[in-house]
This record gives sequence, C-alpha cells and structure tokens, in this order.
Amino acid sequence: MGSRAKQDAEFLCMGIEGTAEKLGVGIVSDSGEILVNRVKHMKLAEGIHPSEAAQHHAAHLPSLVRQALEEAGLEMRELSLIAFSRGPGLGPCLRVAAVAARTLALKHRLPLLGVNHCVAHIEIGRLTTGAEDPLTVYVSGGNTQVTAFAKGRYRVFGETIDIALGNCIDQFARELGLGMPGGPAVEKLAKKGSYLPLPYVVKGMDLSYSGLLTAALRLAEKESLADVCFSLQETAFAMLVEVAERALVQAEKREVLLAGGVGVNVRLQEMLGEMCSEQGAELLVPPAEVLGDNGAMIAWLGVLSYLAGARQRLEETQVRQRWRTDEVDVLWR
Ligand code: ATP
Ligand code: FE2
Repeated sequence: MGSRAKQDAEFLCMGIEGTAEKLGVGIVSDSGEILVNRVKHMKLAEGIHPSEAAQHHAAHLPSLVRQALEEAGLEMRELSLIAFSRGPGLGPCLRVAAVAARTLALKHRLPLLGVNHCVAHIEIGRLTTGAEDPLTVYVSGGNTQVTAFAKGRYRVFGETIDIALGNCIDQFARELGLGMPGGPAVEKLAKKGSYLPLPYVVKGMDLSYSGLLTAALRLAEKESLADVCFSLQETAFAMLVEVAERALVQAEKREVLLAGGVGVNVRLQEMLGEMCSEQGAELLVPPAEVLGDNGAMIAWLGVLSYLAGARQRLEETQVRQRWRTDEVDVLWR
C-alpha cells in the first residue's frame, strides 16, 4: 500500500463500505493491488444505534475519502469506478454510503456500482489468500453463513436462524461489562477457562445462537467468567465447525476460507484447521485488515463486477437492507 503513480490503462476502483458501525474507503486496481484501505471505527459503548452510526458516517466520509486519495497519491479523476455496499445492512447507514457514492460518481462523471457486502467478504478473501474455489465460513457481528460456489451463485449451505455468532459474543460481553466489541475480551478470558456444558443447537444445516447466549449469561451468574467465556467459545465454534464440515463434504470443496471479523479468533482458526486437516482440505485465513468490514473488499467486488459487464443506472442503485448472498449472479466466475 501507499502512494504511487497511476499506471497507464490501469483500472482503479474506490470502494465505500458503511453497512454498520464501521466506515471504510479503499482503492483497488484491476490487477488486485490494494492501494489503500482506510477503516474508521465508531466508538461503541453499547449496541449499534443505526441513526447514530449513520451520523458518524456522514461526518467522517468526506475526510476519509480525502485521506484515502492522499495516501494513494491519486486524484478523483484518475479513478475508473466508484463502488459501494448496497446491502445487506442497517438502512440509515447504507443510505449515507449510497448518497456519498452517488454524489462522487456524478461530480466526477464516474460509473457507479452498488455491490453485495457478503459477496465482497468472499471475494477479498479469495484475492488475498489465493483460494480458488473455497467453502466460505463468514462470521461477523451481523452474519453467520457457510457458502460455496455452485451453478453461478454463492449458495448458502448453512446459516444462523436467529442472531449472528459475533452478535452472540458481543451481547454476552456487553451484559457483563466486558466492553465492545466483545470478541477480543471473550477470547482473552477464555484462555484461562475450562469447559462447562452449554446448549449446542444445530438444526439440520442451520445454527441457533440465541439460546446459547441466554444460557451463557445465566451460567455467568454463578460460575467463573473465564470458564463461561471458554465454554461459550467452544460450544459456538463447535456448532459452526460441524456445519462447515458437512457443507465441505456436500459441496465437494478442498479449501475453507474464513471471512468476517470473528475470523481473527485464534481458537476458531484452530478448530476449523483441525477439521480441515481431517478432511484433507486447506484452511485459508485472510489478513485481519480484510477479514472485518473494509472498503477494499467493496472496491475489489466493484472491479470484478464491472469488468464482467455489470452496469447500473443511478436509479438502479437503491440500497437493499435485506439482500441474500445467493441472490447475486456471480458474473465474473
Ligand atoms: P457484518 O456487517 O458483515 O455483519 P460487522 O459489522 O459485524 O460485519 P466485522 O468487522 O466483520 O463487522 O465483525 C465484527 C465482529 O467480529 C464483532 O462481533 C466482534 O466482536 C467480532 N470479533 C472481533 N474480534 C474477535 C475475536 N478476537 N474473537 C471473536 N470475535 C471477534
Ligand atoms: Fe461485514
């Protein structure tokens, strides 16, 4: 990353991410070089208030765009495309990113593409790890999904039927005053814990984390916090690994790709890694900067989509709060 002159005939895309509490601006070239990837985290005392997050994004987007251009040593007119996260996500946040992207595109006469946030997680993972055709385990604050490519789309093999894995950990941490986001604090405490039984809920190929959250909170009233953190992680991750293992066999893939902010968890990586080696598959973990929400993943999916022929008129760029991974035609594969 860093400042460098634009090469001749290079196609550069700026990606704007703002589906939840993080705001990201990244610039990626058609060769897959990430020139810059700036992320601004909103300080969270508790859960995410959509309207507050939207205000945060509106306040910080202009300077983040300026900083990204400066860091890359580029001017707006040297870009070829603007991409933004069109969904899924929180309505007010999505609309701020969309309005900013439309304004930039109109002002600088650039084409605009709204892209799917979940698919962007998968594609930046493939780009940065070299995974060719992985089963993707996407775990974040808002999503928990096991997907694989089949017949032109990323098909969902298993997913949560209530709250996301990251949300389960965050709510647990928040109730116990461990701070937000909860993942790092719970991971640290879990290192000194030992196992206590908690409800393990896998329904067919789907996962349920809300009962586990309630039971873990109840257990924390009488047991040591380290033990409960350890048991929460072990149970939640084992459920995910079980679904991933069955999906891996069913989808006949040889690679497992981690995506989403929960993917930085070392214990989760360990457990998935063990399953992979038993199945003769390879676990691929992208660098932390691209595991969580970021602008480069949106820029890269913009590049892939545009070069595969995707086009959107301005009036076709409305946000989509609910937009499933398996509704997107994968034109570039
Ligand atoms: P999405 O919009 O895709 O749902 P998000 O807004 O939740 O994403 P991410 O950056 O992908 O953003 O993920 C954030 C989540 O990752 C939070 O729930 C956070 O607690 C979790 N997380 C971060 N670090 C860890 C960790 N070490 N262990 C477990 N979870 C973690
Ligand atoms: Fe995300």
